Amino acid sequence: MNLISNESLQPFDFILFGGTGDLSIRKLIPALYFRHCEKQLPDDGRIIASGRTAMDTAEFRAKLDVEVREHISEQDFEEEAWQAFLERIQYYAVDVNDVAAYQPLVDALKGREDHVRVFYLSVAPSLFTQITNGVHEAGLITANSRVALEKPLGRDEKSAEEINDRLSDVFSEEQIYRIDHYLGKETVQNLLALRFGNAFFEPLWRAEHISDVQITIAESLGVDSRGAFYDQTGALRDMVQNHLLQLLVILAMEPPVSMDPDAVRDEKIKVLRALKPLTGIDAIENSVRGQYKAGAYKDGPVPGYLDNADIPDDSTTETFVALRAEIASWRWAGVPFFLRTGKRLESKTTEIVINFKKIPHSIFPTADGFSIPNQLIIRLQPEESIRMRIYVKAWGDDIELQPVHLNLDFNDVFQKRKMIAYERLLLDIIRGNPTLFMRRDEVAAAWAWIDPIQEAWEQYQYSPKSYTAGTWGPGAANALISKDGLRWHED
Ligand code: BG6
Repeated sequence: MNLISNESLQPFDFILFGGTGDLSIRKLIPALYFRHCEKQLPDDGRIIASGRTAMDTAEFRAKLDVEVREHISEQDFEEEAWQAFLERIQYYAVDVNDVAAYQPLVDALKGREDHVRVFYLSVAPSLFTQITNGVHEAGLITANSRVALEKPLGRDEKSAEEINDRLSDVFSEEQIYRIDHYLGKETVQNLLALRFGNAFFEPLWRAEHISDVQITIAESLGVDSRGAFYDQTGALRDMVQNHLLQLLVILAMEPPVSMDPDAVRDEKIKVLRALKPLTGIDAIENSVRGQYKAGAYKDGPVPGYLDNADIPDDSTTETFVALRAEIASWRWAGVPFFLRTGKRLESKTTEIVINFKKIPHSIFPTADGFSIPNQLIIRLQPEESIRMRIYVKAWGDDIELQPVHLNLDFNDVFQKRKMIAYERLLLDIIRGNPTLFMRRDEVAAAWAWIDPIQEAWEQYQYSPKSYTAGTWGPGAANALISKDGLRWHED
């Protein structure tokens, strides 16, 4: 895989549907701007944004000039580079439901058929098919074209397959880039580097030595303006089906034979298929649903989920999920994988915690009785770091052991700006490297594991437990993990 590639890009047209939307302003345009600053975009690389709002290119650039600035820190903002970057951008208002309305794009792309062409759909999934059909009927799809889609890809296996069928009517599988932005995060790729670039982790990376794995994606933000979307989705579909499962498979997969895109994705899918199905009462016993109620952070009080005007008073959508999963394979048999995600939790923390088994026999006294054995903590957020908990002899005369942490904070080591996950992903799409994108069978396999959990919740009318905003979720999540005699890692 291209973990870091300075390979120069071919001239391209990046056609951004949903160009005026939140994701474009907060992430996509800033990501491209940073790559422009790093001189990774070729001179002939254009961004052709479109949206429903009628405006011309000058007005769109003026809008970006105000709005995008807010999402780039002052120290990373270079006025001259920004002005040069804006020159790459054009804007056309397109009603995506009207085939005739694609004409401005046809004109803008005429004569550039040999260039790489990316159709980036940063729009509601209900518009995916209209747009792919629209660009097809407008004759815009060339051999060098790609289409990139944001999640959610469907709401279950069946609807995801329907979307994939429609996509495959006009694009080949090699042209389709399904994005999970977690795969663009530096530490996720570092997980691969850590596992397969070092001699001492891989021999220990198995049931014989690992007691349990905990993966947490905690957010302190609430649902806020996304209420209507979120209430139809819930945390299982919004976070577990994609981000959490992607972290799990990268952590658990067998070493691929090479970094070739399909070699990696073939190994990932084996993990998804090896996940023990959670169905019926088994799903209920191994899962916890939660929904936040009003609470407070140090900045002040925050409303509960049901206080949101876009959410029905009797909504039973979960804003928190905890699961106990197992992977039925030689490597992982018997190791519980605890997954947890939620909105309005105590802090924004994403981390993977690998707890190793206790040493078989202790010849040393310890201050804590080896209460927590060796532990590897891989953090994605708030900081990107790797921490290893080991025992050393306590300073002084006594031969007593004491736990300490070996810390590797990527910020200190590399002293570089924290990259936006999209920077790598957008360049990979332009470059034509699909390693960090989900293949169709991978999406289907992830849904195939998720669907029975959702069905069991409905069948057993398993309502979410409420938890106070600003805490670590419902007490039932602690009860779930304590059945194995364990506790969630929190510090
Ligand atoms: C998105 C979810 O995919 O990921 C959001 O739809 C969530 O609900 C977001 O807030 C979290 O991403 P990150 O990179 O901020 O952890």
